[in-house]
Amino acid sequence: VYKDFYQYPLPIPPIKTPYKSYDNLDYYEIDIKPVDLQIYPNLKKTRHVGYDGMVPGPTFMVERGREAVVRFVNHADRANSVHLHGSYSRAPFDGWAEDTTEPGQYKDYYYPNAQNARTLWYHDHAIDHTAENAYSGQAGFYIMHDAQERASNLPMGQYDVPLALAAKRYNSDGSLWSPEANGETVSVFGDVIQVNGQPWPYMAVEPRKYRFRFLDSSISRSFQMYFEADKKAGTRLGFNVIGSDTGLLTKPIPATQLDISMAERWEIVFDFTGYEGQNVTLRNNRKVGADDDYAGTDKVMRFVIGSKITSQDGNGPLPATLRSVKYPPKKDTVDRHFKFERSNGQWQVNGISWASGPEARVIAKPERGAVEVWELENSSGGWTHPIHIHLIDFQILNRSGGERNTVLPYEAAGLKDVVWLNRGETVKVIARYAPWDGLYMFHCHNLIHEDHEMMAAMDVKAIKD
Ligand code: C2O
Ligand code: CU
Repeated sequence: VYKDFYQYPLPIPPIKTPYKSYDNLDYYEIDIKPVDLQIYPNLKKTRHVGYDGMVPGPTFMVERGREAVVRFVNHADRANSVHLHGSYSRAPFDGWAEDTTEPGQYKDYYYPNAQNARTLWYHDHAIDHTAENAYSGQAGFYIMHDAQERASNLPMGQYDVPLALAAKRYNSDGSLWSPEANGETVSVFGDVIQVNGQPWPYMAVEPRKYRFRFLDSSISRSFQMYFEADKKAGTRLGFNVIGSDTGLLTKPIPATQLDISMAERWEIVFDFTGYEGQNVTLRNNRKVGADDDYAGTDKVMRFVIGSKITSQDGNGPLPATLRSVKYPPKKDTVDRHFKFERSNGQWQVNGISWASGPEARVIAKPERGAVEVWELENSSGGWTHPIHIHLIDFQILNRSGGERNTVLPYEAAGLKDVVWLNRGETVKVIARYAPWDGLYMFHCHNLIHEDHEMMAAMDVKAIKD
């Protein structure tokens, strides 16, 4: 049992530098390779496979308007496919599950970087092995900036911190517990909470504002997090949610709890002013969704507040408005209805699975440019499913049927590419199916569910003239 809470510092993944830069394009190379990491202090190192041998991978820091080509070289012993989650990549570069790169080979992925500033992440998407590959390390941040974001005077640089949450299991010798070796087909909730790879880390901060970019990179664990000052246990401290999966919200939304499920990104600004010399701890609710609780799953990480402020940049009042978000035009009808269900021990979407085959799995054919309302229903009883639709940014219109019978205020203030269907919930999402045509996936982002076939495809149809 891991007992060292808040004893080790938070690692920050290094920034990836281009191998070569051209006028308007940066070219990068990433080696996917094994690495042995010391996770448990007194046990043996454990094998991971990471981008450039790091877990999480190095962080891409890109500017809107500069295109990127990334060569992913596979030095691992199994096939992979890379998805840049949050990018409207053309289909051949979107990490299609069967478009795998074999060991010893590479693939060059083209990323347009033409959307507004946002927190993206890149992760494995290989057919049947996404969970194992992402769990053993193939996940990293890809942060896109733009001029509008910079003009909003938010905390930047060392005050803008990516935080990748994960929940893992280890064997008693310190090695990573493998979902595949153990034949796991349901969920890996994990009793060890890690942030940027480190179990329950601490971070030394200054008594000022910080921007935190949360990503839940867990295979199966969702979080409902809150901040607590050690001197005021039991009181949830306020903060502002400023960004979602698809970049800045329309305006800062005050909150005391942050719900985040797998693959979601939420950005917040937390102000440590007045906490000089104290600790503020990031906690997690007990009994979140359908997840198993363990002794330490109510803890995430700790902030240790110093007394000195080195820079006042981005420490002013938050702007009243952040961005004008381009919501899709209003529409009252429902175009498609999808049930995420468990039937005969199988995870399915409307009764089909990925394995139903190349034709049967294509269960949506929107015309390119069409605005459609999709109703996503969790009809699997006690389970929860974060649903991700590739290519598009959607607006959450409505949530009903479950414990959270509402669209959360910060969900309503921007667009998303993942929505959490907690127990019993049905949500309606609206999006314009654009800008490209082609075959794209949509699926549950509990990666065990995804690998066990809770994945379907849409064929965005070219407009005929
Ligand atoms: Cu984050 Cu289809 O994936
Ligand atoms: Cu699921």
